[in-house]
Amino acid sequence: MFLAATSQPVFHKEGSTSLLVPSLGEPKMLPAFFNPRGAFVRDVSLVVYRAYLGQYAKGISKTLTFADSLAGIGARGIRVANEVEGFEQVFLNDINTRALEFARKSAEMNSLGEKCVFSRSEVCSFLVSRFENQCERFDFVDLDPFGSPSDYIDCAIRGVKDGGLLSMTGTDSAVLCGVYPRVALRKYLGLPLRTDYCHEVGMRLLFGLAAQTAMRLEAGIIPIFCHHDMHYFRTYFSIKVGNSYSRDNEGKIGFITHCFGCGYRSILRRDEFFSLRAEDKKQEGDRVGNRKSARQKKPMPSEKAVLVCPECGRGTNEKGGRVALGGPLWIDKIQSMDFVKRCGEISELSVFSEELDLPLYYDLNSIRLRSGTSMPKITKVLETLQSRGFAASRTRLNRNSLRTNATMEELRNVVLELAR
Ligand SMILES: C[S@@+](CC[C@H](N)C(=O)[O-])C[C@H]1O[C@@H](n2cnc3c(N)ncnc32)[C@H](O)[C@@H]1O
Ligand SMILES: [Zn+2]
Repeated sequence: MFLAATSQPVFHKEGSTSLLVPSLGEPKMLPAFFNPRGAFVRDVSLVVYRAYLGQYAKGISKTLTFADSLAGIGARGIRVANEVEGFEQVFLNDINTRALEFARKSAEMNSLGEKCVFSRSEVCSFLVSRFENQCERFDFVDLDPFGSPSDYIDCAIRGVKDGGLLSMTGTDSAVLCGVYPRVALRKYLGLPLRTDYCHEVGMRLLFGLAAQTAMRLEAGIIPIFCHHDMHYFRTYFSIKVGNSYSRDNEGKIGFITHCFGCGYRSILRRDEFFSLRAEDKKQEGDRVGNRKSARQKKPMPSEKAVLVCPECGRGTNEKGGRVALGGPLWIDKIQSMDFVKRCGEISELSVFSEELDLPLYYDLNSIRLRSGTSMPKITKVLETLQSRGFAASRTRLNRNSLRTNATMEELRNVVLELAR
């Protein structure tokens, strides 16, 4: 029998699919990886694939392909083959022979033998393996690595057709949330921020890495959805091939400034950042040219003028305040509201509820901690903001957080009023 006794295979139902899995309980690494707690994240991805197919498949008569490039025991790929209508072929690839044995068996159990194609290859070889056949690529690719997707992102982008979809996971939460900034700079080409909205910064780093890689490959990305669950940062984006898309993406890479003194945050475009730097250098030059004023003013590092908080006036490393710069990262939309609406129409999952396109959400818990009050109900805060004419919605990136166009001060006042 192909499954050794030590693998303790068990039958498991996820969605409407029967899976043969190593065992149940906590995530299992051996003999093959399976995390039963990832079921929700897979449920969400199936809805996204269905909704994207609805729009993508229009006018395409050719066969559509889905590539589960790091398939593990095939939990996502087998479910896609079984539960999503529209794919002619689902490819499942993993380096682990044992994982593929589980996947093959599950395909048999669900009578998917014809539809599923299995391979045991290094993921990058797999993703470009169809190039031999008239530069053929996959319509949909999923990239679900241990930790960061940065090792494989180039091949994943190259493996997707123009207009196709790439879904990508990052599970290195500590890196994406700013605990190891230097690792983030190496892996994601941008600095993270350890803030109350670190999940959004993490998503923007993931999209930023994808866009900066696509730009190198004369392509671009269009984010359509992302969500956060446990340690999963899941991103979904279209791949568009052509230099006009790289140029478009170039303008969507920028920075976030965050004041750790008062909580003020803002998005800074790359051109704004560089003009501030130029202004800064000019001021420094003026100071050097004017000996009297140079004696009066303390020398200022060039970053300092860029990073002065417009709200509380404190600058980098000043007492009680520290203004930090996150990025370069993705500063444009991280969802398509139309697409999310479509997902909401075919699914009852609350993760597809409407969410405003306002960047950098506020976490109520950190506002109430900073203000020393009790925690108000998020629904009440939203109602109050809306009744005062502000736009406000929850965010799927954090349970106790919201997006609003109210200023930090206005939001803090609402929190203080409701906490009384
Ligand atoms: C997080 S697991 C995938 C989980 C799976 N997508 C799911 O939903 O259950 C990552 C998988 O990548 C495989 N893997 C790691 N490095 C690889 C490589 N360089 N090429 C191919 N597979 C690899 C591992 O064997 C493991 O099964
Ligand atoms: Zn401030």
